[in-house]
Amino acid sequence: MSKITAAITGVEAYLPEYILTNEELSRMVDTSDEWIMTRIGIKERRIQKGEGLGTSDMAVEAVKKLFKKLSISPEEIDLVICATVTPDMQFPATANVICDKLGILNAFSFDIGAACSGFIYTLVTASQYIESGRYKKILVIGADKMSSIVDYTDRNTCPIFGDGAGVVLLEPTTDGTGIIDYICRVDGSGRKHLHQKAGGSVKPASHETVDAKEHFIYQEGQAVFKFAVSKMADVSVELMEKNHLRSEDIAWLVPHQANLRIIDATGKRMGLPPEKVMINIEKYGNTTSGTIPICLWDYEKRLKKGDNLIIAAFGGGFTWGSIYVKWSYDS
Ligand code: UT7
Repeated sequence: MSKITAAITGVEAYLPEYILTNEELSRMVDTSDEWIMTRIGIKERRIQKGEGLGTSDMAVEAVKKLFKKLSISPEEIDLVICATVTPDMQFPATANVICDKLGILNAFSFDIGAACSGFIYTLVTASQYIESGRYKKILVIGADKMSSIVDYTDRNTCPIFGDGAGVVLLEPTTDGTGIIDYICRVDGSGRKHLHQKAGGSVKPASHETVDAKEHFIYQEGQAVFKFAVSKMADVSVELMEKNHLRSEDIAWLVPHQANLRIIDATGKRMGLPPEKVMINIEKYGNTTSGTIPICLWDYEKRLKKGDNLIIAAFGGGFTWGSIYVKWSYDS
């Protein structure tokens, strides 16, 4: 019997309507469109507005679109995994909330927190359940409401992030496509450069932590940049070599959208021309767990069955990784 692999058989995304432009940001903090475009490559990002709305609501919208597009119903889903660093609440898992809001009742669900590498870790985890032959339909979600942890008085971080959600459906196949290989890595000592200081068990929320703005993202940009630029490229090149892939064999690099300079450096190290690199950072910024499925959704019409994709990400943790996917369908 031929080997079962996990195929991505559909993708959808949801981006909130509100557009926060560089122009508006430059009225909030001392920054400019020119600085943000040159140093990061972002023109605008989406912000989820509305009382009582959170990460699960964006994910639910994305999944609803996917159900409609693929004509599948909630009862068919076996497992839901949601990558997020901005869960609706500390517990229960946002994936549980998503299941409830969608009427997914024949499944189990959990969240994975791996910051900007969240979608990669989640896709790899989900693929094991498919390859084992145990499950037939898994929703792999990447969703973050980054605006809930961004300090809009801090010019070092507020231009970078946006809100959004993406989802892919994973199903078994034996046609040789799907997730072929991956490399995932962690270096927990990197956590000092990128984290949220309070709100966890070490430093629970208090008046003092709120006053000290410790519930927002803390990032030492240059230190993170240095690691991101080398690790994302290293792991992608390692994966290419392991699978005897030359640059001409690759149809697309699907990079996490954190900084255009990091994306460009990764593409160059892999020997790829710019037209083979998926980029939408200028429209949506860094949606953390959302960037990769949102990119796949944005470029879906250009993907063909058999295309070799390298998906790559680096993020807080530090976490990083790369996945080799042979695309499973023509749009
Ligand atoms: O996705 C998760 C992983 N995260 C990342 O991959 C982020 C990695 N890091 C980065 O992308 C970049 O380091 C940043 C975009 C965060 C910052 O860019 P940078 O080129 O590393 O700038 P910098 O922090 O070294 O700051 C350079 C200068 C500083 O001014 P001085 O000290 O040279 O006078 C900053 O104060 O730019 C200043 N600056 C700004 N100026 C205008 C910082 N932020 C801004 C701003 N507008 N928004």
